[in-house]
Amino acid sequence: MIKKIACIGAGYVGGPTMSVIAQKNPHIQVTVVDMNQARIAAWNDPDLANLPIYEPGLTDVVAEARGRNLFFSTEVDQAIHEADMIFISVNTPTKTYGKGKGQAADLKYIELCARQIAAVASTDKIVVEKSTLPVRTAQALKSILDNTGSGVNFHILSNPEFLAEGTAISDLHHPDRVLIGGEDDRAIQALVDIYASWVPEDRILTTNLWSSELSKLVANAFLAQRVSSINSISELCEATGANVDEVARAVGKDSRIGSKFLKASVGFGGSCFQKDILNLVYIARSYNLHEVADYWEQVILLNDHQKTRFAERIIRTMYNTVNGKHIAFLGWAFKKDTNDSRESAAIYVADHLLEEEAQIVVYDPKVPAEQIYRDLDALGTRSPEDNRRLLQVVESPSLALQDAHAVAVLTEWDEFRTYDWALVKQQMKRPAFVFDGRKLLNRKDLEVLGFQYYAIGE
Ligand code: NAD
Ligand code: UDX
Repeated sequence: MIKKIACIGAGYVGGPTMSVIAQKNPHIQVTVVDMNQARIAAWNDPDLANLPIYEPGLTDVVAEARGRNLFFSTEVDQAIHEADMIFISVNTPTKTYGKGKGQAADLKYIELCARQIAAVASTDKIVVEKSTLPVRTAQALKSILDNTGSGVNFHILSNPEFLAEGTAISDLHHPDRVLIGGEDDRAIQALVDIYASWVPEDRILTTNLWSSELSKLVANAFLAQRVSSINSISELCEATGANVDEVARAVGKDSRIGSKFLKASVGFGGSCFQKDILNLVYIARSYNLHEVADYWEQVILLNDHQKTRFAERIIRTMYNTVNGKHIAFLGWAFKKDTNDSRESAAIYVADHLLEEEAQIVVYDPKVPAEQIYRDLDALGTRSPEDNRRLLQVVESPSLALQDAHAVAVLTEWDEFRTYDWALVKQQMKRPAFVFDGRKLLNRKDLEVLGFQYYAIGE
């Protein structure tokens, strides 16, 4: 029976996942470690409003378990040493250098974890891959552990995480399934027992290691493919007079197709979809499966096209120039109810408009200014000084909307719906344009108020 768990990586996955495991297993001590001191300090902040991650429901879970059997620490070695089971939940970004640059997953953090576990472990450990990894990574992990360890036994399990940001706590409380891949029955059962504290057993699937690793990439690829499919149809709707929401509804009513993940948008973002599909494409190519690779690559190409075409639509509609024009961005996060902006469509739409010397003023309820500038600076399109000259981040929506030539809705935050749009209209320049990248607002209401309203797929 497992008594102590360590989790390396206190990010968007490690933090919420371990909080729920601790909440539901009060008899297990769960320690989440990270080398990022500021992040750990934020997880330990007495004021729960300062947790490093914004997720609805997270503060309640942390309040219940923290200090009881849930701990956050920078003492990585100590946590590894004491644990029976170690989750690896570190980031696996797309490689930015060398072989596979721009496509393959960068496994340097994973390898560092394996070497650290091997160096410290003096008793047998179950090592759980929680990070999303290329298929067959467990083989490399096992080799590092067995060759650099001090003779103790390591069992590797794959247990990919399927939570979505913004709904992480409810996804963790009520998962569609928990997936556990492994070779050793006792190790598998030890992890099944932890989830069985709250997940019905028929939702806990066990497979071999490679199926589990690959299933995570495939699940994200299928989800993203649905978004790209409906986004491709959104462009056809704009050309033909069909309405993409009506098409999605008609198509999604077919129980074989289903209605979820058919919301046309300015493009999917987030830290997972693009990274995981690029990784799938890279893996397929490495096995010389070029048709397979090309098929999935198209999901990314279409997504890039959707972001570009939204920006170009703004420019074209505003008489082919946005130079010096004030464009209010409502939202920067990649979806509502998260403070995460990794790969957000807003970054790329902004970059395109800034190339045309637009003056962008951003308001997002949860994403801080320094993060927005970091996102833009990371593209390297222009100097940090130019990014700050052309783009301003404000603390209230009215500051963004005052005197704007246009509003662009980039994130579907509920509060944007509740604004007094009649007042907004009075504050804006004429004609007052609204470009709705999330199909959040009501066309009729806005047109009655005199807005020029454009929404994806209409
Ligand atoms: P993240 O960047 O938010 O967190 C990763 C953390 O790991 C960081 O805080 C980093 O400091 C820490 N870390 C890295 N190397 C370390 C080391 N050697 N020792 C100690 N700490 C270390 O990443 P995330 O969003 O939590 O994603 C983690 C993994 O989970 C990725 O593989 C991702 O693909 C996968 N995943 C993410 C999501 C999601 O919604 N974000 C969902 C499912 C799966
Ligand atoms: C995704 C997967 O859903 C989750 O299972 C996995 O563990 C991690 O990756 P996440 O990226 O957090 O989760 O959010 P998700 O809800 O999947 O949205 C991803 C992007 O697609 C967002 O930018 C969202 O706005 C966009 N999207 C989603 C659409 O544009 N239309 C849709 O119908 C659904």
